[in-house]
Amino acid sequence: MLQDSYGRDIHDLRISVTDRCNFRCVYCKSADPRNYSPHHNLLTWEEFLRLARIMAGLGIRKIRVTGGEPLLRDGIIDFLARLSEIEGINDLAVTTNGYLLTEKAGEMARAGVRRVNVSMDSARPEKFAAISRTPGSFERVLRGVDAALEAGLGPVKINVVLVRGFNEGEILGFAKLAREKNLVVRFIEFMPLDADHAWNRARVVTAEEIFGAIDPVFPLVELPRHEASETALRFGFADGKGEIGIVAPVSMPFCGQCSRIRVTADGKLRTCLFSLAEHNVGRVMRSGASDAEVQKYIERLVYHKEPGHRINEPDFVQPSRTMVYIGG
Ligand code: GTP
Ligand code: 5AD
Ligand code: SF4
Repeated sequence: MLQDSYGRDIHDLRISVTDRCNFRCVYCKSADPRNYSPHHNLLTWEEFLRLARIMAGLGIRKIRVTGGEPLLRDGIIDFLARLSEIEGINDLAVTTNGYLLTEKAGEMARAGVRRVNVSMDSARPEKFAAISRTPGSFERVLRGVDAALEAGLGPVKINVVLVRGFNEGEILGFAKLAREKNLVVRFIEFMPLDADHAWNRARVVTAEEIFGAIDPVFPLVELPRHEASETALRFGFADGKGEIGIVAPVSMPFCGQCSRIRVTADGKLRTCLFSLAEHNVGRVMRSGASDAEVQKYIERLVYHKEPGHRINEPDFVQPSRTMVYIGG
């Protein structure tokens, strides 16, 4: 079993399978193909599968596949199917921008994916298209969300990153969406992982504010976390209609219960979303190391997992790689 020096059991792995994305979101540098990792640097599906098997042998139980946009990479469905067959993996989920879900949701469900989380920072079509710099994207993502629901990839969670001055006026609208549709809308505090370094504390819409915007209109009741390491606080509505979540890494850090490690598309192990150091597990595998050697390498790195992010410390340093590489 993987455990770090603070006694936290590490049982969740997030794999970013690509740093490519079809959206060109204004706050993200994925737009520029010059920033893409060269293909030979990306782990192959076989390499990801080998790593996942090794990790499952070390006690990883949940795998979340992210990107970039994971559904863009050729062979993703077959990869998901093979991941889901790995002994010990009992939760397989995908975080996606939703654009390709209309065509892929059914295949994903058949491949053994249990659920999807879809990013949606605005519920206004023009604004959404302006952010993603992709005309017609909002309507397509909505159809994708419906396709995911139909395919049984629920509970489908909608991730809304709140940025003050941009979309905090949509909190109630999103809460209504959660009440009207069979979706869990999760409001996320903006974290300093943006490419333009535009983050500052004043732009963070805190958990307290989010709660305060919704509760007087639609009274909320707190629901128990599914597991201690869950990122979101869960709330139901007092009248029983729907569920929302609040992910509050800035105002209510949850690092003390963290169970997560990450692998980037180019094969770097990150023991924290905010790690300043990455470890080239891909290169270790390519150097001819045996599974047992790779296991030892991972165990040693995970043991030294950092206690938490330092967003609230005066000496905070933003990681040099942004979300599109790390995968959120
Ligand atoms: P569930 O498995 O459905 O609970 O999903 P999740 O919340 O773990 O994953 P998702 O990809 O939907 O991420 C939602 C938000 O939580 C994103 O903004 C992520 O960047 C953030 N997040 C996920 N894991 C961590 C983490 O370990 N630390 C911090 N600080 N934020 C995280
Ligand atoms: N802060 C918080 N969440 C972010 N995401 C992307 N950038 C940020 C940020 N700076 C979210 C995306 C996606 C998830 C993986 O991370 O909306 O849903
Ligand atoms: Fe875990 Fe790091 Fe996220 Fe904190 S910031 S919850 S330690 S990955």
